[in-house]
Amino acid sequence: MGSSRLLVFIILPILLVLAPLAPTIVGDQTTSGVCTMRAEYCWSYFNTKNTNNGSIYNQNLNTLLSSFTSNPKINPRFYSSSRGQAPNKVNAIAVCRGDVASEDCRTCFKDSVSILLQNCTNQKEAIIWAEHCTVRYSNISIFGLLKYEPLKFVPSPNKISNAERFKQVRDPLFGNLREKAAAGNSILKFAAGNASVPCTTQTVYANVQCSPDLDKQKCSDCLKESISNITECCGGVGGGRVLRPSCYLRFESNPIP
Ligand SMILES: *[C@@H]1O[C@H](CO)[C@@H](O)[C@H](O)[C@H]1NC(C)=O
Ligand SMILES: *[C@@H]1O[C@H](CO)[C@@H](O)[C@H](O)[C@H]1NC(C)=O
Ligand SMILES: *[C@@H]1O[C@H](CO)[C@@H](O)[C@H](O)[C@H]1NC(C)=O
Ligand SMILES: *[C@@H]1O[C@H](CO)[C@@H](O)[C@H](O)[C@H]1NC(C)=O
Ligand SMILES: *[C@@H]1O[C@H](CO)[C@@H](O)[C@H](O)[C@H]1NC(C)=O
Repeated sequence: MGSSRLLVFIILPILLVLAPLAPTIVGDQTTSGVCTMRAEYCWSYFNTKNTNNGSIYNQNLNTLLSSFTSNPKINPRFYSSSRGQAPNKVNAIAVCRGDVASEDCRTCFKDSVSILLQNCTNQKEAIIWAEHCTVRYSNISIFGLLKYEPLKFVPSPNKISNAERFKQVRDPLFGNLREKAAAGNSILKFAAGNASVPCTTQTVYANVQCSPDLDKQKCSDCLKESISNITECCGGVGGGRVLRPSCYLRFESNPIP
């Protein structure tokens, strides 16, 4: 009796206060990629035929990715560009999250490029999903193409007790956001929203985004697939991310930073 009171009156409020600070961490080994401890950055490389340090491909890669953060004239929120001639041609796309300030986009691109160049050295294709942006490159053309793989699940460590009720609110919210994002334009396909969970004090916060070079149908298809993977990814927890090259999905039980 005494200890359960302790739990309810002392420990539970502390947990509730701490919950917003709890980081989303990586807890899933079935999908590809690695994350930093608090999952500020997750990345993956594939098609892993190594290139040589100093090769023409790597020089093109360095020059191209560096230009994303150094050229102030280009749109600071979305880059899609390529450099070089086949077979050393590099294609790259950088997309900033739709609700992030331009200055933070620049910082995100800069940090992401630096991680890509350090941690995915000498790879033909790689992607990094940061909290505020996604940057990827490939020797194969990627513009306007729907790419589902690699797929990375990043569930939150926060378990929730009312998962079913949470889901009943989350699913329609994502349905809505998917439509909104897909209806975006050629430089931004993003939507964010929130909905409160009935009979609780909880709110679901969510955002979705497509690579804006995708057309409406492809954006919608990509998000549909990711939404259908939420159960496998993050069914019983209060938040998580489903990460693909072409689209991004995230939900949390607190406002998304
Ligand atoms: C690549 O070569 C440059 C110059 O030779 C060197 O500074 C750099 O450390 C090398 N990087 C790797 C990953 O070997
Ligand atoms: C891309 O790189 C892979 C691995 O080296 C190679 O098999 C493929 O032919 C390349 N594709 C293009 C379009 O250069
Ligand atoms: C990424 O690269 C940096 C520099 O080489 C290294 O210190 C860090 O441990 C790497 N991170 C991971 C997760 O591999
Ligand atoms: C929640 O949604 C409402 C509109 O539905 C919006 O005004 C508000 O800014 C949102 N809150 C957050 C933290 O996103
Ligand atoms: C993601 O969802 C799709 C469509 O429902 C399904 O075919 C696929 O197996 C799921 N992937 C994972 C890793 O659960």
